[in-house]
Amino acid sequence: MLSCIQPTGEVHLGNYLGALRNWVSGQHEKDAFHGIVDLHALTITEAPDVVGQATLQLGAVLFAVGLDPDVATVFVQSHVTEHSQLGWIMECQVSFGELSRMTQFKDKSAKREHDFVSAGLFTYPALQAADILLYDTDEVPVGDDQRQHIEITRDIAIRFNHRFGDTFVLPKAVMPKAGARVMDLQDPTSKMSKSAGSDTGLVYLMEDPAAIMKKFKRAVTDSDSEVRFDREAKPGVSNLLEILAACTGESPEALATRYTQYGPLKTDTGEAVVELLRPVQARYTELMADRAELQSLLRKGAAKAGEVAAATLARAQRNIGLLPA
Ligand code: AMP
Ligand code: TRP
Repeated sequence: MLSCIQPTGEVHLGNYLGALRNWVSGQHEKDAFHGIVDLHALTITEAPDVVGQATLQLGAVLFAVGLDPDVATVFVQSHVTEHSQLGWIMECQVSFGELSRMTQFKDKSAKREHDFVSAGLFTYPALQAADILLYDTDEVPVGDDQRQHIEITRDIAIRFNHRFGDTFVLPKAVMPKAGARVMDLQDPTSKMSKSAGSDTGLVYLMEDPAAIMKKFKRAVTDSDSEVRFDREAKPGVSNLLEILAACTGESPEALATRYTQYGPLKTDTGEAVVELLRPVQARYTELMADRAELQSLLRKGAAKAGEVAAATLARAQRNIGLLPA
């Protein structure tokens, strides 16, 4: 099983409750690979030093939330050079037309109308195909926005296997285990997202407790004052209940019966989040204070990933019939 995350923007509560927490429980169920895909982040990053720092921080987050370097394989994409090497081969297996039809490319390039649109943004799916195929991946847990990229990866693998003989395992997209869906505290009909206009509705994983409490106390609810779990009619209150439920393990419906006012619900939810994050933040601070240790954990992941990746790349090169060095 492979999942990858780009080192862009700070990790927020939605990422944690919706995805990362499941990665942690999932590491004991599947042979899990988790890539920090820094090369993909280069498609839109121009400033120096940004990606490396974000990569280090994301690495610290992944270990801090509980990924165990002895269990899961957590690695940085650029540390496993096979990604770029197979990426080029993938670019030669996919057509200009296929890449032109990718929704994410069309969306992202349209949004960058007045910005530099790199060729990397266009060939991004070929690198993603390399990420996936290098690990003989069976399952890629992704949301709807990434399904098209998994489909094109399958198409590329089928085409390659047909041209050059059986080389790659065909991956499939699977629904990630359902985590909580965390909405913006100021706009509870939109998902909490790093692309939100303002961060007053966004709770970052590494935010200090006082700031977290303040954001919860100011969370948007509604003008009647009944506490009830109803996403349609009461999105703000329901979001608080769902967050509290994700922290305590109880159901949002059961929690709702315990409150008659919004104030205590906001305070309790804020406190539950602060307590849930406290050990994660402590571990993160420790890891960031010992950069050598953190980098050695990432090197260990890269070595494990590299072993599998090197074997797959060699198989692909041999089957194509590239002249051995
Ligand atoms: P992103 O930051 O959008 O690249 O998302 C990284 C992961 O976090 C993906 O698996 C998303 O599905 C998950 N995620 C992002 N935002 C939320 C949210 N507000 N609630 C639940 N899961 C989320
Ligand atoms: N494209 C994915 C995203 O935007 C990130 C990604 C890169 C990825 N390589 C991957 C996801 C391989 C799954 C598997 O979120």
